[in-house]
Amino acid sequence: MQKLMIQGGKRLRGEIALQGCKNSALPIIAATLLCGEDCTLLNCPKLTDVYSAARILNCLGCRCSTSGNTVWVDSSEVTEDRIPEELMREMRSSIIFMGAMVGRLGQCTVSVPGGCELGPRPIDMHLAALRKMGVDIREGGGKIVCRTSGERAKGAKISLSFPSVGATENIILCAVTAEGETVINNAAREPEICDLCGFLRACGASISGDGESRIVINGRRDLHGCCYRIMPDRIAGATYLAMTAATRGEIILTDACVPEMEPFLTVLEQTGCSIYTRENRIYLRSGSRLRAVPDRIRTMPHPGFPTDAQAVLMAALAGAEGTSIFEENIFDCRYRHAEALRKMGADIQVLGKVAIVRGVPQLTGASAEATDLRGGAAMAAAALAAEGKSEITRISHIDRGYERFEETVRALGGDIRRE
Ligand code: EPZ
Repeated sequence: MQKLMIQGGKRLRGEIALQGCKNSALPIIAATLLCGEDCTLLNCPKLTDVYSAARILNCLGCRCSTSGNTVWVDSSEVTEDRIPEELMREMRSSIIFMGAMVGRLGQCTVSVPGGCELGPRPIDMHLAALRKMGVDIREGGGKIVCRTSGERAKGAKISLSFPSVGATENIILCAVTAEGETVINNAAREPEICDLCGFLRACGASISGDGESRIVINGRRDLHGCCYRIMPDRIAGATYLAMTAATRGEIILTDACVPEMEPFLTVLEQTGCSIYTRENRIYLRSGSRLRAVPDRIRTMPHPGFPTDAQAVLMAALAGAEGTSIFEENIFDCRYRHAEALRKMGADIQVLGKVAIVRGVPQLTGASAEATDLRGGAAMAAAALAAEGKSEITRISHIDRGYERFEETVRALGGDIRRE
C-alpha cells in the first residue's frame, strides 16, 4: 500500500496551474451517453474516479479512451442497460449514470451506492424525482431497476427538499431528452451544475436557470456530440491555497475559477493572508502565523462555504493564533480527519456538527491514515506545516481527487514523496 512521506516545516512557494474539476468531469462523462455521437472532453483531470467513469462507459458499449487530460467518447452504440456491481462500487458517485441511462435508453439497472466515509449517502431525492418523471423504479437485493412507462421520461415540476448536487444532476440528465418541460425548484447552484449544463447546451440541449435555484429544461429527442473544456477544480484550488497558507508561504494559482472560489477566498482572507486576484490567477501570501477566523465557519450549499474545503481549512487553522469554530451542515460525519490532526498536536474538540479548533503554536509530524479524499489532503497540509516527519497511508483516497498530488506539492517546494 502506497504512502506519502512528508518532511514538514518548509514554506511553500511557487506557481501552479489548477487541474480540471473532478466533480464536473464525472457528471459530464455520464452525460456523453446522451449524445449518440463523438464527444471530446478537454482539461479532464487524470484521476482514478475519471478512469472508473470511462470504464463504465466502455462496459455500456460506448467507446471511451483517455489520453493525458483529454477524454474521447463515441456513444453511438450503447448495448448494455446495466452497470456491474463491482464497477458501481469503485466510485460512489456512479449513481449519476442512472439519469443519463434513463435519458438515453429509457431504462437501466444499477446498484444502490453504499454509504461512504462521509456517512450514509441516501438517494431518496434522486429516486423521488425520477418517479415524478414517469420512471418506474423497483428496488430490491441492492439493485435499482428503472424503466420509463413510454419510450421517454416525461417532463415534470420537481421541488427538492434540499439542493442536492447529485439529485439536481440526475434530474437534468434525465430531463434533457424527456418529453416536455421539467422545472427544478430549489436546485443545487454549485458551479459544477453550470458546467454540466454548459456541456449539455453545447450538445444542443435546452436548459436555462442553472446557477440559480430554478432550472428549466425543455426535452429534446436528439442531442449531438461536441468538444468541451471542463472547468477548473475550485476545491483543489482551495486545497493548495490552504496548504500554502498553513506553511506561511506564497503561491500563484493559474487557470483558476476566481468567481466560483469567492465563498472560500472570503473566509481564507480572514486568517490574515494577503490574497489578490486578476482574471484567472490568484496570488496568496501569508508571511506570518495565521489568525483564527472570527465568525463561525458554516458549510452550506453554494454560494455558501463549500463542505469540501472544510477539512483543509481546519488543517490550516490548527496552527493559527486563536480559536476557530466550524459547523458542518452537509454531511453527517465529515470530521474524521480531526483525529489525525490531533495526533499532530492539534487541539480540536468535536461536538456533533460543531468542531472547536484552538490554534497551537506548532504542529509536530506523525503517522496518519487518510480517512477520505479531502481529509487525506488536510492531513498532508498539516504535515507540511508541522515540524518533523509525517507518514500518510491509504493515499488512494487522495488519488481519487487530486491529479499528480505530490508532484504539485513538490513544485511548490514541499518535501514530499510517495513510497
Ligand atoms: C457532491 O456530492 C460532490 N460529489 C461532493 O464532493 C460534495 O461534497 C457534495 O456534492 C456537496 O457539495 C460529486 O460531485 C461527485 P449532495 P453529492 O447530493 O451529490 C443528502 C468530494 O469531496 N442527500 O448535494 O452526493 C446527502 O446525504 C465530494 O469531492 C439526501 O439525503 O452531494 C448529504 O448529506 C464529497 N438524499 C447532502 O444531502 C439525497 O437523495 C448533500 O448531498 C441526496 C442527498
